[in-house]
Amino acid sequence: MDFQLKSLRLAEAAAMSVPALAVLVADGFEPGNDALSALIGRALGSGDFKTDAGALLSSYGAQGVAVDRVVLLGIGDGAAHRVRKAVAAGVAALKGSPTQSLTLCFAQPVDAAAVCAATLAAGDAAYVYRTTKGKRDNPKNGAPRLTEVQIGVPNTALAREAFQRAVGMAAGVELAREWANRPGNHATPTQLGQAAQALAKLPAVRCEVLGPRDIAKLGMGAFQAVAQGSRQEARFIVLRYDGAAKSDAPVVLVGKGITFDTGGISLKPAPEMDEMKFDMSGAASVLGVFRALGELKPALNVVGLIPACENMPDGGAVKPGDVVTSMSGQTIEILNTDAEGRLVLCDALTYAERFKPRAVIDIATLTGACVIALGGVRSGLFATDDTLAQALVAAGEQALDPCWRLPLDEDYAEALKTNFADVANVGGRPGGAITAAKFLQRFASAFPWAHLDIAGTAWKGGSAKGATGRPVGLLLQYLLDQAGPAPGRAPKGGKAAAKSGQGKRKRA
Ligand code: BES
Ligand code: MN
Ligand code: ZN
Repeated sequence: MDFQLKSLRLAEAAAMSVPALAVLVADGFEPGNDALSALIGRALGSGDFKTDAGALLSSYGAQGVAVDRVVLLGIGDGAAHRVRKAVAAGVAALKGSPTQSLTLCFAQPVDAAAVCAATLAAGDAAYVYRTTKGKRDNPKNGAPRLTEVQIGVPNTALAREAFQRAVGMAAGVELAREWANRPGNHATPTQLGQAAQALAKLPAVRCEVLGPRDIAKLGMGAFQAVAQGSRQEARFIVLRYDGAAKSDAPVVLVGKGITFDTGGISLKPAPEMDEMKFDMSGAASVLGVFRALGELKPALNVVGLIPACENMPDGGAVKPGDVVTSMSGQTIEILNTDAEGRLVLCDALTYAERFKPRAVIDIATLTGACVIALGGVRSGLFATDDTLAQALVAAGEQALDPCWRLPLDEDYAEALKTNFADVANVGGRPGGAITAAKFLQRFASAFPWAHLDIAGTAWKGGSAKGATGRPVGLLLQYLLDQAGPAPGRAPKGGKAAAKSGQGKRKRA
């Protein structure tokens, strides 16, 4: 998607000849003397259009307006979530029309958050999955596709930075959605590794992909146990983004990369099993974050770790009751082979120790129990560190990608006790999202740690079935909040820096 920010007033928009124009109108609109103002004024006066968020009026060939296709969108008080809703409706209204370029014009001055929301929402609404669709849907064969979005605001100076951040984020969200959507046979561990390697073309991004032998050498017995039932070779992906000094401790992101989860010998039922192609959404979100980091170049260091494999049942597959030794040395009784996410993650968490991280955040479609607890609105958040938890909650609110903290009381760990190993990999149905987190916590004692259970938020079922790209927005917002001043723009000490506090790194 090609995004542009433009200084644009309604009078100019009315005279512009573009393929399609969407005008965002907030409460308290005061019409000027131009043709668009006249159109909005008439529509408001007749009651055919309201400034309520989500209200929409399509018109064609309005008098005095150069562009034929005009959509009026209400954004209420202009809050970011209302702008998002309006833009989504506006782009949806244009879907199916041959329009390849859309201009979104704010009728009134807006804040940075609104510009950011509009940009992200336009990218989100315009995304269409095509990778495994037939020729008819290929844009090369004439299938229409929105490829250009211009955002028009009365004053670009205020919006420029937010806009650029949003463009980077949108690219990350799109990459995450794309990989999560690909079916298991088009997103194998090997292919995920190649996707990660492709990101190493970006500035300051490096990638290393380990194979089965390296994984065995590292002693990742839990990860290996999951991978051993599949003909697809496992991959352990290590991404690095170096935007700050070497001495700066990195944030480590760990993404669950189960490219297909059959449940293994504890086989899942057939209905809806196809949805388990989304079980690498955590990994996809890490790829998306790195895509955006390469574009936005914040001043911080980030490591991305992705244990990638399939969870399959075959003659060599791990069996219920098998005991394996994790990289940490802890032994694990695998009572249910369908609780595989925590097995691949625990070894990645141990691997993370070598980076002496300032924080480790794992992202996983981990439990059906989390879907029952929080549905598709908020991701589940667990954390051993209050400052880290607060920073993630705040980032989620800011990015309209919210999460909700759940408890980690020690009493929940009782369920994981077993007579045959240090820990069992399941603890029964009650509090299933929490016992899964308690399992992971045993491998995360060396650093401040947070766990995001995105089983309910990373993808949608029903007719709009597909990946959402969450929680790329939350993670990026958190990382950008952690970053020091950008190298080029860094205030070098002195009055301004001392006054604004920007000279110092804000840490959480
Ligand atoms: N990938 C699933 C979790 C999941 C379920 C994600 C539904 C998205 C939607 C995970 O590997 C799994 O199978 N978890 C089990 C754990 C149980 C065996 C303790 C579950 O949630 O049922
Ligand atoms: Mn499973
Ligand atoms: Zn799974």
